[in-house]
Amino acid sequence: MEDRLISIEGIAKRYPAAAGGQTTIFEDLWLRVGRGEFVCVIGHSGCGKTTVLNILAGLDAPSAGAVIVDGREISGPSLDRAVIFQGHALLPWKTVLGNVAYAVASRWPKASKAEIEARATRAIATVGLAGAEGKRPAELSGGMKQRVGIARALAIEPKILLMDEPFSALDALTRGTLQEEARRICRETGQTVYMITHDVDEAIYLADKIVLMTNGPGARIAEIVVNPLPADRRQGAIHHDPNYYALRNHLIDFLVSRSKTFRDDPPAGYDPRHPPVVRLDGGVAAPPLPSAAPKLRAVAT
Ligand SMILES: Nc1ncnc2c1ncn2[C@@H]1O[C@H](COP(=O)(O)OP(=O)(O)O)[C@@H](O)[C@H]1O
Ligand SMILES: [Mg+2]
Repeated sequence: MEDRLISIEGIAKRYPAAAGGQTTIFEDLWLRVGRGEFVCVIGHSGCGKTTVLNILAGLDAPSAGAVIVDGREISGPSLDRAVIFQGHALLPWKTVLGNVAYAVASRWPKASKAEIEARATRAIATVGLAGAEGKRPAELSGGMKQRVGIARALAIEPKILLMDEPFSALDALTRGTLQEEARRICRETGQTVYMITHDVDEAIYLADKIVLMTNGPGARIAEIVVNPLPADRRQGAIHHDPNYYALRNHLIDFLVSRSKTFRDDPPAGYDPRHPPVVRLDGGVAAPPLPSAAPKLRAVAT
């Protein structure tokens, strides 16, 4: 049986509309995330990805529904749930060590200064920043700042790591290295991750499951795609995997066409409480896609 850590249960978000009435950004979202799973969410801008992440963080509240973490409904922010933002959000007047130690101290307020610094130093080393402990954010490159953000999040040993497009502002080389490190660290520590990305290859490299959100307003979870690539996949070599193109085409076809038509024309039998789980590795077939299916099968076999 799945060891469920997060259960999103029918959440919706509505705002008052300018013309009166309400705008529903998304509704009836249901999703379960198992302990130790790495989930990536893909969907067009404005469908509500950041809002869902903020709800998971406890920084925003749903208009309907609930989120259960480890058996309890969440009601506000918690150090059990660490967020890595797109911007790094570091304290500019504190050093690298100071920024990480600050988070560690809030998590373990009774720890000694030496314990706090030892834990912070370890986290800084984990993200490859040993030697930069005394630098201030202004002295760091974008990639280094994002590493500090990761170190800070990991140092508090959160139950859930929430990441909102954490690598999107970085150059391609730095992004690749950080993706590799993030995957290694999360696998080694069994970290549960909920991450938003707009980069299909990033999702294919990092995720165990890829959650596809339809366009808003009224966005839904269209399906959950199980990543068929082997767990020991290597960054930069995923395109050699025989399942890679089937998966990539499936995700891109969704973004190009199905994300737009899904809401008005959902597949027969679609139940938002149980979004279809799609496997493209020759196991359970993908749902019927008039235009994309033949291409997928051709690549998958
Ligand atoms: N305070 C607000 N009032 C009205 N609309 C909002 C507010 N905050 C966000 N929205 C709208 O909610 C939608 C979803 O936003 P967001 O979660 O940031 O989407 P995403 O991260 O998928 O791009 C957007 O259309 C945005 O304009
Ligand atoms: Mg967003």
